[in-house]
Amino acid sequence: MSVLLINFQAVKKAYMIQATNIQKFYGDLQVLKGVDLHIKKGEIVSIVGPSGAGKTTLLQILGTLDVQSNKVDSRLLINGIEVSDLSDRELAKFRNHHIGFIFQFHQLLPEFTALENVCIPGYIKKTPKDEVEKRAKELLEFLGLSHRIHHKPNELSGGEQQRVAVARSLINNPSIIFADEPSGNLDSESADNLHKLFFELRDKFGQTFVIVTHNLELADLADRKLTMVDGRITDSVGIEWTDITNRPLL
Ligand SMILES: Nc1ncnc2c1ncn2[C@@H]1O[C@H](COP(=O)(O)OP(=O)(O)OP(=O)(O)O)[C@@H](O)[C@H]1O
Ligand SMILES: [Mg+2]
Repeated sequence: MSVLLINFQAVKKAYMIQATNIQKFYGDLQVLKGVDLHIKKGEIVSIVGPSGAGKTTLLQILGTLDVQSNKVDSRLLINGIEVSDLSDRELAKFRNHHIGFIFQFHQLLPEFTALENVCIPGYIKKTPKDEVEKRAKELLEFLGLSHRIHHKPNELSGGEQQRVAVARSLINNPSIIFADEPSGNLDSESADNLHKLFFELRDKFGQTFVIVTHNLELADLADRKLTMVDGRITDSVGIEWTDITNRPLL
């Protein structure tokens, strides 16, 4: 009994995401048909598949921005926490502390500068202002934007705006980053740099990445490439990351 309990705890600790039987309906249309997915801490997983397969829908649910239609007979644990047990308020806090999002359309706030956009999630987390700004400047510098920090989004190129959005997604040191077509708007050099950055962050800070992409080069770089077709994961290529501490599973 106690051995079983220890093993269960070990599994909970090793996985960043444990999703079971995730389904989503829009009216009569079933968009997700029972997705099961386990992602280990520190793993980089890519999701590819045809347009309309349900990739964004799945990412939004895993990222707690949307909810599955079958809460009763499904499970979604993030970092060992069953997110459907959380109230809206707790969920917003959980998201702010643990999850980073990078979207194709970066959704920066137009009236704020690059630096302010990056700082906002840190202010929401109530991290001291000077600490947030220091980290924001470091991130922007790391992303090659130190000369643009006081510019507003409409004074930045598409690639620069995308990098600001990446810095914003990292400001609170999230344990997991969900990226939906993160390099869709970038030239190939900026896209390569962004992809390298994901791997550097994983290697340095052990962050977990789930990346939806049509960029097959990026998809192949991931530890595991999942293919989604018609609301199901149909294929998985690669080896599960053995977790940064190399802690054995079970
Ligand atoms: N709010 C909604 N209401 C109704 N149908 C929706 C809604 N959102 C998505 N869908 C439908 O769900 C299906 C899956 O959409 P989703 O955005 O997840 O696809 P995707 O795999 O991300 O596609 P793409 O590669 O084009 O981004 C599509 O058929 C889409 O039309
Ligand atoms: Mg999509």
